[in-house]
Amino acid sequence: MMNFHILTLFPEMVMQGLHTSILGRAAEREYISIEAVNIRDYTLDKHGKVDDYTYGGGAGMLMQAQPVYDACQAVQERLLQRNGANAGRARVIYVTPQGRTFNQSIAQELAQEDDLIFLCGHYEGIDERVLEEIVTDEISIGDYVLTGGELPAMVMIDAIARLVPGVLHNTDSAVTESFGDGLLEYPQYSRPEVWHNKKVPAVLMSGDHAKVDAWRMEQSIMRTKERRPDLYEAYIARMERN
Ligand code: ADE
Repeated sequence: MMNFHILTLFPEMVMQGLHTSILGRAAEREYISIEAVNIRDYTLDKHGKVDDYTYGGGAGMLMQAQPVYDACQAVQERLLQRNGANAGRARVIYVTPQGRTFNQSIAQELAQEDDLIFLCGHYEGIDERVLEEIVTDEISIGDYVLTGGELPAMVMIDAIARLVPGVLHNTDSAVTESFGDGLLEYPQYSRPEVWHNKKVPAVLMSGDHAKVDAWRMEQSIMRTKERRPDLYEAYIARMERN
């Protein structure tokens, strides 16, 4: 069972999004758990304020250190109670365009953890001092800027959760598809056999599993070469090494 803890000002956004479809079923069956912690619940400000102007001026508001720190400590302390004092502290991932770029191998690495804490910023970001104290990993989902960390956290959690044993029905589908072996997926077809005058490739109707596998592999390699020459080069280099 893998436990995701999300520190956010918008808990309903992440809870809705992550309790749908496959991840919803995985949570029901207790392969994963997803908890949203509302940072606002931890503010000591009597009006519930969690943000303020930035020193030095400039546009926008910044999330303040105190509520973020206390929300994170509350989760870490709960985990310590559960796991015993000699268990390590959970990794805290700050979701930010300044982090290293997320990919399948980072997803695989993070899927080995029992607990992950995601810190979602909003507004112009978070006071640097609290980041220095609590964050272990900074990860981006790509070179574009979103309004908050919730969507990137959801993207990463989806990619990680589907690697947790039991989450996907088919145990090898997490391995065979795109990026599992560094190649893009082959094209797929379902009924009917002819649609808009287009026939399903004959090899797929042949019942010859070895031929089907060989065709799919060849399609994967061709697609990767055409669409993602960078991945193709890496694949060839790996093949030559082995
Ligand atoms: N917050 C805003 N934009 C982001 C991005 N691209 N990746 C991660 N966190 C973000």
